[in-house]
Amino acid sequence: MANAIRKWRASVLVACLFLSYNGLAQEDDKEYKGKYLGRLNTYHHQVSGEVYAVNEYTLLFTSFTYDGNGADTFFWAGASNRPGPQGFIVPDEWGKTNVLDRYLNKDFTLTLPDNKKITEIKWFAVYDLASQNTFGDVNIPEEFDPPAPQRISQLSKRSHGVSSESIVILDSKTISIPQFTYDGTGDDTYFWVGLGPQPSSKGTKVPDQYGYMEPLRAYNKEDVIIQLPGEMTVFTVDWLSVFDVKTKSNYGSIIIPDGLNVPPSLVKVIKHVQSLPNCVQLHKRYQVSWEIFGPQITIQLAGQVAEDEYMAFGLSGSDTSSQMEGADATVAYMVDTRGYAADYNITAKAPCGKVLGQYKGVCKDELLGGQDSNQLYTAVRENGINIITYRRTLNSSDPGDKEYPTDRPVYVIWALGRLDENLEPSFHDFYPKSDLLLELNRQEPENSCMDFTENDEKSFEPWKKTEIFDRSIRTFRATIGPSGGRKGYQGISGQTSMGYAWYIEGQLIPELYLRRGLTYNFVVYGGNNPHSANLYHPLIITDEPHGGYDRLSDVAQSKVRVLAGVEFTRRGRPRPTAVGPLCLSKHDTRDRRVDDDFMSFKKFNRSLLFVCESGEGGVLEVTPNTTWPDVVYYNSFTHANMGWKIHVVDAYSRSEAILHNLSRTVIIVAIIFRLL
Ligand SMILES: *[C@@H]1O[C@H](CO)[C@@H](O)[C@H](O)[C@H]1NC(C)=O
Ligand SMILES: *[C@@H]1O[C@H](CO)[C@@H](O)[C@H](O)[C@H]1NC(C)=O
Ligand SMILES: *[C@@H]1O[C@H](CO)[C@@H](O)[C@H](O)[C@H]1NC(C)=O
Ligand SMILES: *[C@@H]1O[C@H](CO)[C@@H](O)[C@H](O)[C@H]1NC(C)=O
Ligand SMILES: *[C@@H]1O[C@H](CO)[C@@H](O)[C@H](O)[C@H]1NC(C)=O
Repeated sequence: MANAIRKWRASVLVACLFLSYNGLAQEDDKEYKGKYLGRLNTYHHQVSGEVYAVNEYTLLFTSFTYDGNGADTFFWAGASNRPGPQGFIVPDEWGKTNVLDRYLNKDFTLTLPDNKKITEIKWFAVYDLASQNTFGDVNIPEEFDPPAPQRISQLSKRSHGVSSESIVILDSKTISIPQFTYDGTGDDTYFWVGLGPQPSSKGTKVPDQYGYMEPLRAYNKEDVIIQLPGEMTVFTVDWLSVFDVKTKSNYGSIIIPDGLNVPPSLVKVIKHVQSLPNCVQLHKRYQVSWEIFGPQITIQLAGQVAEDEYMAFGLSGSDTSSQMEGADATVAYMVDTRGYAADYNITAKAPCGKVLGQYKGVCKDELLGGQDSNQLYTAVRENGINIITYRRTLNSSDPGDKEYPTDRPVYVIWALGRLDENLEPSFHDFYPKSDLLLELNRQEPENSCMDFTENDEKSFEPWKKTEIFDRSIRTFRATIGPSGGRKGYQGISGQTSMGYAWYIEGQLIPELYLRRGLTYNFVVYGGNNPHSANLYHPLIITDEPHGGYDRLSDVAQSKVRVLAGVEFTRRGRPRPTAVGPLCLSKHDTRDRRVDDDFMSFKKFNRSLLFVCESGEGGVLEVTPNTTWPDVVYYNSFTHANMGWKIHVVDAYSRSEAILHNLSRTVIIVAIIFRLL
C-alpha cells in the first residue's frame, strides 16, 4: 500500500507541480478530494470507481476496480459524443500505455497526455480497442470547471509594514503569499489562522515556510508558501493573519472565501497521539512531550526524521537565553530497531573533538568523565517518525548535569540533524534561532502539539560540483567557509558536515586532479589557534574520505594511511604540519538556516563575508608518487568531513595517459625480451 501510494505520488508529482502530494490512505468520506465528476458507469468486467478532477489535467480515481480480463483494454478518453474508436490512450498510474491489468479497489491519479485538459474531453472510459467495447465510462459535463489554484485578495495593511501581493490558494492546505513583507519587530508574531468574522487570539499557529514555530523574522518582498498544520484545510479556517499573540494584535490579514474550487492537498496526515500530558511543537517535524512525577521527569521526543538523523533536546547553557554552549542535552536516535537517548555535554559549538588533548564540543557525558543519566524507556520508528522516551531524575547525581527546575520556567535548546559515520551528531539542519522558555512543572498540563503531515519536502538538488583540472595550477589556496546546508557539502559529498568545509581556490570542496611525479603546494589558511574547538584546521591528505585524524582512537588511526600533513613526535604522537592563519568566509547577520534557498554556490558565496587573519599561510608540499592510490582526500586534522577528493592521475589528458600506458607496456615488453 505504502509503495503504491509512493508511486501514485510520483505520478501526481509529475502531473501538477503545485500539489503537495498525496495519500488518501484513510478512507474518510468527508475528506476533500477535488471536484467530483461521478461514479464510473459499469457495463462489463466489473469496472467501477469514483472519479474526481484534481486539477485541470489530472483525474483521481478511488476504489477503482476492473477484472483485467479484456484483451486489448486501455484507459481511453476523447472529445466525441460517446466513447468510441475516436480517442486516445491515457497512460496508467505509472505513466505506461500497456494493456490494463486487474485492479481491485485502487486509488490513483491519471494525467491526460500531451498537456490535454479535462475540459477538452467529453468522456473517460475503460475501453477495449480490439472489440471496440466500452467496459465503463464517466462523462465530463459541458462547462466543467476543474479545480485550480485560486487567487484571492492581498493581506490588509494594518501595521508593522505587513503587505503582500494577491494571495494564491494553491490547494486545500497550501497558501502562497507572494512578495510578503513584515518588519519583524512584533513581540510574538506568527502566521495565524482561525474561525470567526475577524482575526482573534483564538487561533492556531501555522509553521513558517521552513516548518519553524518561532516568531516571524523580517521579510522584504519574499515569496512565502505555508502549509496548514495537521488536518486543517482552507475549508476549516476563516482567516489568515500575521498576528501578535502577546499584544493580541492583527498586523495584516485576509478572509479566506468559502467554497474555493482548489485542488485537494494530497499531503497525508500522520496521527501521533502523545502519551505524556504536556507537549510542545518545536518544529513542524518535531515535538517534545513530558511528565514530571516525584523526583523524575519522563521525556518523549517525536520527530519526523530520516533513519540516520538524530533528535536533540536539553536544557540551555544559559539562564537567560537558549544557548548551545554549556547545555545539557539528550541526543536520541535509532539504529535499526534499537533506540538511544544519550546524555551529552555541550562545551563548544563543534562536534566532539580534542582541543589540546581535552575533549571539547558536543560530547557524551561519559567521554568527559560524567555519567549517562538518561534511562531509555521505549523507542519505535513508525510512519517515518522516531518516538523515543527516556527518563531521568530532576536532580541527577552527576554534578556535571543541569537540574530540571520545577519552580520556574527554563530555557531549552533543540535540534535535528544527521548522525555521522560514528553515530555522533553532525551539524544540525534544524535548530531554533530564538529563545524558548518552557514551564516544565505546569499546574495544568498543556498539549499544543499537532499531527504530523507527510513530508512533502522536495529532495535537494545539490549545487554543481566543481573540479580543478588544470595542469598549470600547482598551488592551491585552502581556506574555510560554511558547508552550505543540504545543497552544499552534504549534497555534494553525500557525507555529513560539521558546519564548516574547505574552500579551495574559493570553491566549496572542488575535486582536484594531481599528476603523479609533479609537486604541488597547498597554502593553508585553516586557523592556527589550537585552543579553538571549531576553527583550528591543519590540512591533511589521507586515503579515506573523513579525516579528523586527531579525534580517532589509536586503532582507527592505524587503519588510515596519511599521505601528507602529519608527522609523529618522538613519543609517537601525531602532529600536524600544515597550519596557517584563519581565512574564513562567514555568514554576516544572515540566518544560515536558509542556505538551502541559494540556487548555486556562486550566489551563496556572494552572501558571505570573507575575513582573513594576517600572516603567511602554512605550506603543505606534496608530490604524489606511484604508491598513492588513484583517489585520496584532503581533510582537516581536527574534525571529520570537511574536505573531498583528489584524483591522482598519471597524466592530465587522455592521449598523454595512453602514451604513458604505452611506454609502460614498452618497458615491460623490453624487460620480458631481456629475460628471454
Ligand atoms: C540536588 O542535589 C545536590 C546534591 O546531589 C544538592 O546539593 C542540591 O541541594 C539538590 N537540589 C535540590 C533542588 O534538591
Ligand atoms: C561538562 O563540561 C563542563 C566543562 O568541561 C564541566 O564543567 C561539566 O562538569 C561537564 N558535565 C558533565 C556531565 O560531564
Ligand atoms: C567566493 O568568494 C571569495 C571571496 O569573496 C572569492 O575570492 C571567490 O572567488 C568566490 N568563489 C566563487 C566560486 O565565486
Ligand atoms: C611516495 O609518497 C609517500 C607519501 O607521500 C612517501 O611516504 C614515500 O616516501 C614516497 N615514495 C617514494 C618512492 O618517493
Ligand atoms: C591505462 O592503463 C590502466 C590499467 O593499467 C587502465 O585502467 C587505464 O584506463 C589506462 N588508461 C588509458 C587512458 O587507456
